[in-house]
Amino acid sequence: MSKANLGVLSSGRGSNLQAIMDAIKAGKLNAKIVVVVSDKKESQALERAKQGGITSVHLSPKDYSTRELYDSAVVKILQEYAVDLVVLAGYMRIITSALITPYRNRVMNIHPSLLPSFPGLHSQRQALEHGVKITGVTVHFVDEQVDHGPIIVQAAVPVLDTDTEETLSARILEQEHHIYPLAIQWFAEGRLKIMGRRVIVEGVETVRGGG
Ligand code: GRF
Repeated sequence: MSKANLGVLSSGRGSNLQAIMDAIKAGKLNAKIVVVVSDKKESQALERAKQGGITSVHLSPKDYSTRELYDSAVVKILQEYAVDLVVLAGYMRIITSALITPYRNRVMNIHPSLLPSFPGLHSQRQALEHGVKITGVTVHFVDEQVDHGPIIVQAAVPVLDTDTEETLSARILEQEHHIYPLAIQWFAEGRLKIMGRRVIVEGVETVRGGG
């Protein structure tokens, strides 16, 4: 089977990008990162890409008058590199239909909560402030609404009484690094079937409790 070509969009630290790079290296993910694009020139993500010998591109939003024009420029790059799957990994921009339409059901995002709880920014802080006992992480396909598209996989993370935003974020991040490469591998294997809001992972047994 040929490898899935990934285009990763990241604005900052790039630890999820690194986890994906590491999973590929370890032979756990049958994919190739063909390009990393960042809206931030100084992002660690671009640095990680360079270190890993991956083409990295900085595209400044200042050079585009609208979000749509910016996204069209991103699409041009993704198409140039024959990207199959667009991976949002800490990408701090809201993406428009200029990017979603040409890559319909081929854009993934990772979000540090159990969606639909706590969408938007500072999800870990939102979870603490709300007092939930369990939060977690969600990998989903991207649609036109923020943190909204069909859910591929989630992992639960308990909230401890002693947690601060930092300690909770760190435990969630550990799960992020585990499930993002997994979801991408399922995509690469052609196992993800979208049925309305539901994503069926073919070949994974549903775990049934009770009975
Ligand atoms: C992660 O918590 C991710 O869930 C959220 O942004 C953060 C990015 O972290 N979307 P990193 O840049 O991958 O380290």
